[in-house]
Amino acid sequence: MSENARINPCDIIRKKRFGGELSEKEIHAFVQGVVDGSFADYQISALLMAICIQGMTDRETLALTLEMARSGDMLDLSGIPGVKADKHSTGGVGDTTSLILVPLVACCGVKMAKMSGRGLGFTGGTLDKLESIPGMRVDLSIEAFEAQVNRIGCAIIGQTAELAPADKVLYALRDVTATVDCLPLVVSSILSKKMAAGCDVVVLDVKTGSGAIMDTPEKSRLLAETMVRIGNLSGKRFSALITDMDQPLGNYIGNALEVEEAIDVLAGRTRGALRDVSLQLGAHILRNAGVVESVEAGVCLLEEKIDSGEGLRRFAQMIEAQGGDPLVTQDTSRLPKAKAKIELKAGSNGYLAAIRTADVGNAAKLLGAGRERKTDEIDPSVGIVMHKRVGDQVSRGDVLATLHVGERSDKIGAYNLLQSALLLSDTPVKAPALVHAVVE
Ligand code: URA
Ligand code: CA
Repeated sequence: MSENARINPCDIIRKKRFGGELSEKEIHAFVQGVVDGSFADYQISALLMAICIQGMTDRETLALTLEMARSGDMLDLSGIPGVKADKHSTGGVGDTTSLILVPLVACCGVKMAKMSGRGLGFTGGTLDKLESIPGMRVDLSIEAFEAQVNRIGCAIIGQTAELAPADKVLYALRDVTATVDCLPLVVSSILSKKMAAGCDVVVLDVKTGSGAIMDTPEKSRLLAETMVRIGNLSGKRFSALITDMDQPLGNYIGNALEVEEAIDVLAGRTRGALRDVSLQLGAHILRNAGVVESVEAGVCLLEEKIDSGEGLRRFAQMIEAQGGDPLVTQDTSRLPKAKAKIELKAGSNGYLAAIRTADVGNAAKLLGAGRERKTDEIDPSVGIVMHKRVGDQVSRGDVLATLHVGERSDKIGAYNLLQSALLLSDTPVKAPALVHAVVE
């Protein structure tokens, strides 16, 4: 008789329903039941809802995280000497920091062995962006992944099916039971994957604002603090930055468009929010890995890697190692380009006061940059280029944004949604802060 047979799903659900603290044994039985199918979807869903309503203690959240991490392979990256670092964002729009900081940090001697995800909801996914580079592969075996990191210091691949399989089941059920934005469930989902992925240093980018999973500074701070607290209990070094998602981070939204902007940043041509947040995240990795004494020194070192061209060359090496066309880093016209463009112009004078960021992401999705269903195919060429940021003065007729459209784009839907997402005001507005807080 398996251990699970002795623990009845109903008993666990009832205990949590009335606010009890689940034991490690009960959490183990639950995660086992999720993976081996002995808990029915409706029982899992009932427990997820009870967790949402009653919450979890740190002890429970840690146990859930570890059980989810152990539900599949725990990667052993000990074949890669030196400090191995990873970075994770809770998801955003125009959030292309990984493509920038991975090669830059690798240039400073820290191994970036990064596992990334695909787009989710209105947020973009690093794997989808990388695949817009002709020939680029993200499905390397673990052996090829390790070998590449040993050879050039960095690689970005997709999570293998064997990594935290319990999260796949739970995430799919959360998505359809209104239990996504629940603190212990977000924490265990993200951290289980980071713990299974085998890195020593992890920097979390917790977004806050109208394009973030947690939309208020208070909720984002609680998420960041809980993840760092639970993460550090595992023996790895975690830090979190709480960064702004009250407008898209970069000005380019869409897969090939975001690769282009990342190349522009690495080439030193583009400055601003995307570059600044990438450097801050990268500098925290360098500091936590012991390469520099301070975050400021880390930013300086990373800036040198941009100015010398090393960062861009390292990105080209990574692309080539994963089967892609490295010449895109020299000539971005080699990336997929949309057939047509549509300009969205300001209807009046004023200031760009606020952006409903999730809707900018949703507009890009309507153009074909994201998926409505898991099986939908992405059009790598489409997306949106923003020409104004919050706080900018605008005159009637100024182009606020350019839509890059394809044959399958819902042009009118995207145009209308984007227009309604950009709010103008008569009075000046302050630009939002970029980094709201650092949690160590
Ligand atoms: N990203 C994840 O991987 N899981 C969550 O629950 C939220 C964001
Ligand atoms: Ca971008």
